[in-house]
Amino acid sequence: MSAEPESTQHTLPDLPYAYEALEPYISRQIMELHHKKHHQTYVNALNAAELAYAKATTPKERIALQAALKFNGGGHINHSLFWKNLAPPYGERKGPGGLLKDGPLKVAIVSRWGSLEVLKKEFNATTAAIQGSGWGWLGYNHASRQLEVVTTANQDPLLSHTPIIGVDIWEHAFYLQYLNVKADYLNAIWLVINFEEAEKRYIEATSPPKL
Ligand SMILES: [Fe+2]
Repeated sequence: MSAEPESTQHTLPDLPYAYEALEPYISRQIMELHHKKHHQTYVNALNAAELAYAKATTPKERIALQAALKFNGGGHINHSLFWKNLAPPYGERKGPGGLLKDGPLKVAIVSRWGSLEVLKKEFNATTAAIQGSGWGWLGYNHASRQLEVVTTANQDPLLSHTPIIGVDIWEHAFYLQYLNVKADYLNAIWLVINFEEAEKRYIEATSPPKL
């Protein structure tokens, strides 16, 4: 018999930088609430849903938990990716945020879009058009072997592509600083995107599978 499932299986990952490290583009207040409150809530609810699922005895009970598993599991996955794909801004001499160095990712972006600026424009226009809450992604499509801009609704994780960069388009990610001006948030976020992390994910996605 297997042991009783733990209700704390998933835990909130630490941020790889201080709460104020992304200023002036993302305020300390937003980062603190977003990480300590919003992400923690997804973690807690995912643990609760998994525990309830493990204890469920009928298909009907298990089906009733699917939505909670998807929403909170997606929230945990997406935010865990998001923190890592941000970095203190290079423009403020704080870190590598916003700096796309020469390398395989830059080559791929330039060959697909012509320049990073054109990718940003497409990304911002596509994600600004999300109705309600969701996520904007630069993803790698394994079928077409191309980078593509895609979106997912609510907390749906990106399953059709390997995520290279993900941006939280929920109001809780920007409202305290940018109010309803989503376009300003989308312009600012590029100044704290960790392209080193994005390149790492890109290299992994395009490498042949390990034996
Ligand atoms: Fe969020």
